[in-house]
Amino acid sequence: MPQRAAIVTGASSGIGLALAHLLGQEGHALTIAARRPEKLDSARAELEEAGCDVVAVAADLGDEDAIRRVVATHRERHDRLDVLVNNAGVGIGEPIGELTTRKLDIQLATNLRSLPIFYRECLDLLERAGADDRNALVVNTASVAGKHGEAWLSVYSATKAGVIAFTQSMNAELHDRGIKSTALCPAFVDTPMTDFIKDRLPAEAMIQVSDVVESVRFLLRTTPGCVVPEIVFTGPGGALGVQSA
Ligand SMILES: NC(=O)c1ccc[n+]([C@@H]2O[C@H](COP(=O)([O-])OP(=O)(O)OC[C@H]3O[C@@H](n4cnc5c(N)ncnc54)[C@H](OP(=O)(O)O)[C@@H]3O)[C@@H](O)[C@H]2O)c1
Repeated sequence: MPQRAAIVTGASSGIGLALAHLLGQEGHALTIAARRPEKLDSARAELEEAGCDVVAVAADLGDEDAIRRVVATHRERHDRLDVLVNNAGVGIGEPIGELTTRKLDIQLATNLRSLPIFYRECLDLLERAGADDRNALVVNTASVAGKHGEAWLSVYSATKAGVIAFTQSMNAELHDRGIKSTALCPAFVDTPMTDFIKDRLPAEAMIQVSDVVESVRFLLRTTPGCVVPEIVFTGPGGALGVQSA
């Protein structure tokens, strides 16, 4: 059994891949998950190249059975869980009058519904880590769009507001088991997800993935008595999102 272990979802790209690298460097054996097998496999190869012990599970996390498969694979391979990163997410812009029910459901299922299912499926493993050092950690990637509703990204904003509230609930419910949760709430980060707006907001003017990585490095070093419920990252002058780009 490894000393420490972590699950990172949405780890084939952007923030999730960078957090997987961080957790690997910090001594965690990893299980990574995302939908597209080829992208996930190249992330796995990259992490192995960097010296990580990693298993990859291609899974659509909008599907409950797929979540169970990710957790079962992790349990079989690593049998402990110190850090869970619920990071997989998708943002689909649509004006409300043209809302597509399928796109509504994809965002609800991936960005929000998957989180309670992950907590439930991982709870015994997190409880064991919490009993060891009172410092099991769950990082939920929300968004500044969850703090401030965005036009055209209303469903995305609603799911991310849900992530923030759910994270608060988990801190209220699980603190006595040594399990701490943090919602990360960034404005635009330079990842493939923001390619659509890079003609209006240059990549170098955005928050960098390294900023998010450093915030999680900090969370890993907090003592058991310190809970960080959320971290909000804005652009200069408090710039938030699409409207301010
Ligand atoms: N970039 C930003 O400006 C920004 C700002 C605030 C919050 N966020 C949040 O940060 C998180 C990571 O985004 P990113 O910017 O790093 O974007 P990204 O580079 O597009 O990465 C998204 C990751 O999620 C995976 N994913 C998407 N839908 C999935 C599903 N149904 N099941 C499993 N995996 C799925 C993707 O792989 P597959 O597509 O192959 O599944 C990919 O690995 C998201 O939750 C996003 O909402 C991003």
